[in-house]
Amino acid sequence: MKVLVLNGPNLNRLGSREPLIYGSTTHADLAEMCVAEGKELGFEVEVRQTNHEGEMVGWLHEAADASIPVVLNGAAWTHYSIALRDACSQLTAPLVEVHISNIHQREEFRHHSVISAVANGVIAGLGVEGYLLALRWLALKK
Ligand code: DQA
Repeated sequence: MKVLVLNGPNLNRLGSREPLIYGSTTHADLAEMCVAEGKELGFEVEVRQTNHEGEMVGWLHEAADASIPVVLNGAAWTHYSIALRDACSQLTAPLVEVHISNIHQREEFRHHSVISAVANGVIAGLGVEGYLLALRWLALKK
């Protein structure tokens, strides 16, 4: 069974981007961890990252059409993109929203997510391990 792990803007900079907040794991490391965890759980995990909102919306449509579960870190789009939210609303398999940092401990503008109301659940503040926990939950539900 396929699972898409979708990462939004600036997450390609993991490892060098504000390491005190996001840690030292690079996006390539993160992708490797997710693929390995997925293998253990019987998933074929594909990790993608984009800085282009339309590309992300297209990937969500692809997941909706093929009923693929999604682990989504919408990054900054989380807080204001109704286009992303509307694409998430169309998903036909579970959606887990993940944030590396605890968005509720940070600036006020990060406290609200437009995605959370249409996600099955949200993991925030557990570092990159949050993605692995999301995959484990999806495995419990399959
Ligand atoms: C983030 C939190 C967002 O507020 C921020 O814009 C990101 C990353 C996280 O993983 O903690 O880019 O989604």
